[in-house]
Amino acid sequence: MCGIVGVAGSGRAQDVILEGLRRLEYRGYDSAGLAVMGADGAVTRVRAAGKVAELERRLDGRLEGGTGIGHTRWATHGEANDANAHPHRAGRVHLVHNGIIENFKALKAEIAAAGRSFTSDTDTEAVAHLLDMAVEDGLAPREAMLHVLGRLEGAFALAAVFDGEEQLVVGARRGAPLIAALGDEEGFLASDLMALAGRARRVAYLEEGDMAVVRPGSIEIHDRTGARVERPLAIAEASAALAEKGNHRHFMIKEIYEQPEVVGRTLAHYLDAVEGRVRPAEGVDFTTARRLLIVGCGTAAYAGQVARYWFEEVAGLPVQVDIASEFRYREPAFMDGDMALFISQSGETADTLEALRLCRRAGVETIALVNTPHSTMAREAGQVAPTLAGPEIGVASTKAFTCQLAALASLAVMAGRQRGRLEDAAETAHVEALMAAPGLMTRALDAEARIETLAHELTGASLVLYLGRNQFYPLALEAALKLKEISYLHAEGYAAGELKHGPIALVEDGVPVIVIAPMDPLFDKTRSSIEQVQSRGASVICITDPEGAAALEGEPARVIALPAAGRLGAPLVGAVAIQLLAYHVAVHKGTDVDQPRNLAKSVTVE
Ligand code: M6R
Repeated sequence: MCGIVGVAGSGRAQDVILEGLRRLEYRGYDSAGLAVMGADGAVTRVRAAGKVAELERRLDGRLEGGTGIGHTRWATHGEANDANAHPHRAGRVHLVHNGIIENFKALKAEIAAAGRSFTSDTDTEAVAHLLDMAVEDGLAPREAMLHVLGRLEGAFALAAVFDGEEQLVVGARRGAPLIAALGDEEGFLASDLMALAGRARRVAYLEEGDMAVVRPGSIEIHDRTGARVERPLAIAEASAALAEKGNHRHFMIKEIYEQPEVVGRTLAHYLDAVEGRVRPAEGVDFTTARRLLIVGCGTAAYAGQVARYWFEEVAGLPVQVDIASEFRYREPAFMDGDMALFISQSGETADTLEALRLCRRAGVETIALVNTPHSTMAREAGQVAPTLAGPEIGVASTKAFTCQLAALASLAVMAGRQRGRLEDAAETAHVEALMAAPGLMTRALDAEARIETLAHELTGASLVLYLGRNQFYPLALEAALKLKEISYLHAEGYAAGELKHGPIALVEDGVPVIVIAPMDPLFDKTRSSIEQVQSRGASVICITDPEGAAALEGEPARVIALPAAGRLGAPLVGAVAIQLLAYHVAVHKGTDVDQPRNLAKSVTVE
């Protein structure tokens, strides 16, 4: 979604802002802009529909000054054009904004009645006017922001500069992330620490309702009541190297290759390989749970669907998996003994966050399984279960997904242990199998050349079907999502057993059907599905293991043979293949792999 960078300092703000905006490109956006204050206190802005590169072209390196704000906009109110791009200006105020101002129509009517006019279709411009009107009434920038915040409804983050107020940026957050940070000499605001990688030294993660007044070397924070508060200043850990692609062509392929390492790191957080035991996770206790609600969006929800099989099988714990946008708007019938687990890479996804809040209000115990330790979900959930994937830049989730699977598998074993369902030997067997998974994922990466060859065949398809059973059914859903989002091919995932209840009507000569079926007790059933689609002309690719490959020998299906990884490890290994397949189809098609059209990395609006 949108990205914010603000700097108050003495260097060249334009360079800081452009670097930050480039680092925020991964969040998804369709226009960009910046405003920089010159030595005379006047502010100049430049905006452009399209990419940051277009903004740079228009700038042509011309803005001098140490203070400014910049923005990447993912359009919500008004199309993606120059006029709607941020910053928005009203009188003495330039403003950038993430999120949605829900009462913007009423505010615009009031502002128009005061004789002011608008130059964009955005909700943001109303806030810029309110700030300017407050300044016109004699309020200083800090007081103007505090005053205006009281008028706004919705979820947002803001950053503003004021004509003549040198070395000052004022920001606020309510429902959308914003950090304030200090560099060697400057002060910063940003929606994401990644924007300031290599520049920020210490960072304050603003809390819900906070407002920050940032100057070189100082951050002043006020809470939602306006009272001055202190927030901890942490060491800023984002390094510039993490925001670079290294020798890889795309972030996505870099992140696919990072998986053995980060999955290993995540597993080591939960599992003691030497003792063959699950480590006791502080506060996470499934002993008396009667039902586990798992909630997330997109890939995170699919990770939850895989985990349902594990929690039920290994821990005897009933699981209900929900998509957050549905969960939050129905009236879930909670029961005594419910626990709720929220899965999110960013920890900021609006629907998942609201679902978490709904559970908290209902008194349900909550756990956030998040990759971003300082995220809102991490702060608001009763307990935090981390994934240690490191920053994920590619919009298509890869390493975050497999780290979610790794953490969930570990938690399922922990639950099995806590609930008396696993003997020592069974626990050790699960721990050993999981600890072997990163090595097997490395071997799965060796299949890249074969997968790339098969990917060629999919490039021209108008439909691709993915099939799986049991835990490979949600992996089929994830595979279809991955292909859709980066290659724009129409792909659908189905439970193999459901095929004959409708989807088989889609099968005709040459339709690619990708079946995820390592050898397991259900293999023969999935094999019947392979035969059913093959007999109707489908071109089948089976992602399996050596035993599955041997069983399919002599059949028309083409095989991608991955190492056998056992019950909990197989989805981790299979994920590598489905990601590589989607990646190579997208590369062949020439799409924007890391920033696919219309998508945002972190969906912080509804
Ligand atoms: O940050 P989150 O994990 O909460 O994000 C959830 C989804 O938006 C995300 O997984 C999305 O589906 C990805 N683009 C999938 O690749």
